[in-house]
Order: sequence, then structure tokens, then C-alpha cells
Amino acid sequence: MSKQERSFIMIKPDGVQRGLVGEIIARFEKRGFKLVALKMIHESPEFLEKHYADLKGKPFFPGLVKYMSAGPVVAMVWEGRDAVKTGRVMLGATKPLESAPGTIRGDYAIDVGRNICHGSDSVESAEKEIKLWFPEGIIQYTSVVESQVF
Ligand code: PPS
Repeated sequence: MSKQERSFIMIKPDGVQRGLVGEIIARFEKRGFKLVALKMIHESPEFLEKHYADLKGKPFFPGLVKYMSAGPVVAMVWEGRDAVKTGRVMLGATKPLESAPGTIRGDYAIDVGRNICHGSDSVESAEKEIKLWFPEGIIQYTSVVESQVF
């Protein structure tokens, strides 16, 4: 059954540098998700090591941390029905050979190490990532869509 969820979606340093912030936000807005938190932030390698703690043993881990801490990212929380799974579908598969045209990665990425965006892989990861990136909490507001009577 579909559920109201929150997902942590991040535009990585290459996405910011390539001017894809507006494009990515527009896709989520047009799909019908509600933006509930957003900030641009340049994080330290230590912080990125925490975000990617589950990947610590991977051979690409040092390069991933270096890339992610090389410039500012746009950290966001999007809310809506099945936001975690649908968000991942919108981003496209991690590996460029598998990311379908029409998805963000399928349209804009050819390198797994420069794949533009991150999205939580489960509701549990989303909760952890939202706490890590937005320790200040999230503003509550009613969007136009929510306030409409259908
Ligand atoms: S794995 O190996 O299956 O656990 O990895 P995967 O789930 O496919 O990806 C987890 C995150 O690691 C990034 N990744 C890489 N970065 C740099 N170089 C290489 N080779 C590489 N392979 C995977 C991948 O983009 C995922 O990052 P996020 O930010 O979660 O999308």
C-alpha cells in the first residue's frame, strides 16, 4: 500500500556545478512532491564519512568522500506518497549503463563516480539521513496541493 513518506534527496557537487539544481527541483515539484527542507552546504570529509558509513569498506570509498566534499551540495527533504521508492526511480539506477533515459541520471550522467544526485534507499535510511543533514529540524507548512478540497 502506498504511504506518505519523506526522502532525503541530495544534489551532489557535480550536479550543482553543472547547473542542474533547478532542473532536479522542478522534476520533484512537477511530479507532485512537497519540498519540506532545503539548504546548500559544503560539508567536510568527516561528515561525508558519516553519511556514507555503510560503504566504508568499499574500494571507491575514499574517492567518493573526496568528490562529495569537493564542493557544495543541495540537501533536500521531499515528502509525499511513496517518496523514497519513487524518488529512487526518478533519480535512475546508480550505474550509468543501467539508468534509463528519462531519469535524472539516465539523462545527465555517464560516470558512476559523478552521478549528480543521491536518494535514500529505504524509509529507515531516510530517517537517519534527515536527522544527520537537518539536525535543526524541518519547518511545518501546508502546501497548496494539500489545502485543496477534491
Ligand atoms: S554498492 O557497492 O552496491 O554498495 O554501492 P551502490 O549501492 O551501487 O552505491 C552506493 C553509493 O556509492 C556510490 N558509488 C560510487 N562512487 C564512486 N565510485 C564508484 N565506483 C562508485 N560505485 C558506487 C554510488 O553513487 C552510491 O552513492 P549514492 O550517493 O548513495 O547514490
